[in-house]
Amino acid sequence: MSKISTPNVLLSDHEQLRTEALTRIIAAQIGADGPALGFEQFMDLALYHPDHGYYMSSAEKFGSAGDFVTAPGLTSLFGASIGNQVGQIIDANPEFGVLEYGAGAGQLAVAILRQLEKLESLPRCYEIIEISPLLRDRQMELFAAEIPHLLSLISWLEQCPAEYCGVILANELLDAMPVMRFIKTGQGFAELVVDRKGEELILDQRGLTDGRLDDRFDSLALEVDYRSEVNFTAEAWVSDLAARLGSGAVLLIDYGYSRTEFYHPQRQQGTFLCYFRHSGADDPLRYPGLQDMTAHVDFTAMAEAADEAGLDVSGFTTQANFLLSCGLLEQLELLNGSDDYLDALGPVKQLLLPGGMGETFKVLALTRGLDYPLLGFSTRDIRHTL
Ligand SMILES: C[S@@+](CC[C@H](N)C(=O)[O-])C[C@H]1O[C@@H](n2cnc3c(N)ncnc32)[C@H](O)[C@@H]1O
Repeated sequence: MSKISTPNVLLSDHEQLRTEALTRIIAAQIGADGPALGFEQFMDLALYHPDHGYYMSSAEKFGSAGDFVTAPGLTSLFGASIGNQVGQIIDANPEFGVLEYGAGAGQLAVAILRQLEKLESLPRCYEIIEISPLLRDRQMELFAAEIPHLLSLISWLEQCPAEYCGVILANELLDAMPVMRFIKTGQGFAELVVDRKGEELILDQRGLTDGRLDDRFDSLALEVDYRSEVNFTAEAWVSDLAARLGSGAVLLIDYGYSRTEFYHPQRQQGTFLCYFRHSGADDPLRYPGLQDMTAHVDFTAMAEAADEAGLDVSGFTTQANFLLSCGLLEQLELLNGSDDYLDALGPVKQLLLPGGMGETFKVLALTRGLDYPLLGFSTRDIRHTL
């Protein structure tokens, strides 16, 4: 196996060994004569291979020492505001539990539970589904240190129960799911694949004959050479959850757009990106297992999957509007006069401003059996854009 070249970046010996091991595993899956791996399969291995995948092999992803910072790590006021939304639902349906998918470092759960405790609206249970055993450990450590008195409410599940009643939350989960990448050619659609040349991984493309994209972009008239992604994994995840949700709400928070904005003519290269130590890049074959890979979310596709499976699409808005409707500024005001107030000002701006996370991040609510409007969409609901 050839050594991975590392321009401008010094990998530790351990990192070098890990990325080489995963490269060998991926190459072995392709075999000497192919067939090549679809990009989804490659991305799944790069992020979630049980031993060497990005999310599976080190818990140091989040924060300034890792590769990225997410909203719960910026300020606890993010989680406190989401807590207000969860509290509204729990107050109306005290029998509901809360289920968080992909809890990362655990900060969102801590902030939500603290807020629900203040509101005297603690749920009967707070369950977590986390694919990474290392992150599960990190979550447990944080909960034991920060909210030891609430530990009895928290548990981890392998999968969502067959009939779940409650609030399901996912912050930046969908953007971490493996995507299929396509290119519009003169002959129709081709998909990006990962092949091997000897021991080296290379990107290639092959014609798409399975009809998966045939009528998806009918109204969009994509130009030849247009490249982008489709997140079939996330669509299947929404359909599966819809089948399991007896009653309650699914709140999906992520960066993304409605379909017309996602596949805008000017977004010719799509939204796929890799992150390594806070710098973005677009070469997925650089350091498999060491760099994060992500793509924005087509929220129209999520809403369609939910609608087809019988859920109500109950709200869609920007993160800024959602947080403001859930009382983010009132939460900030409560800190006025303390050092925490000054510390929170920058992160709150980042959460709200269009140049930060305020506009690109959206919140989508999918519900079953809820007959009241959700707090977070009370000032602005842009479902008409989906
Ligand atoms: C980008 S991180 C976001 C973490 C956290 N929600 C936050 O906002 O900081 C994605 C998280 O989702 C987890 N994850 C990815 N796919 C998953 C799946 N299918 N089921 C459960 N967790 C998953 C990852 O291990 C990681 O914790």
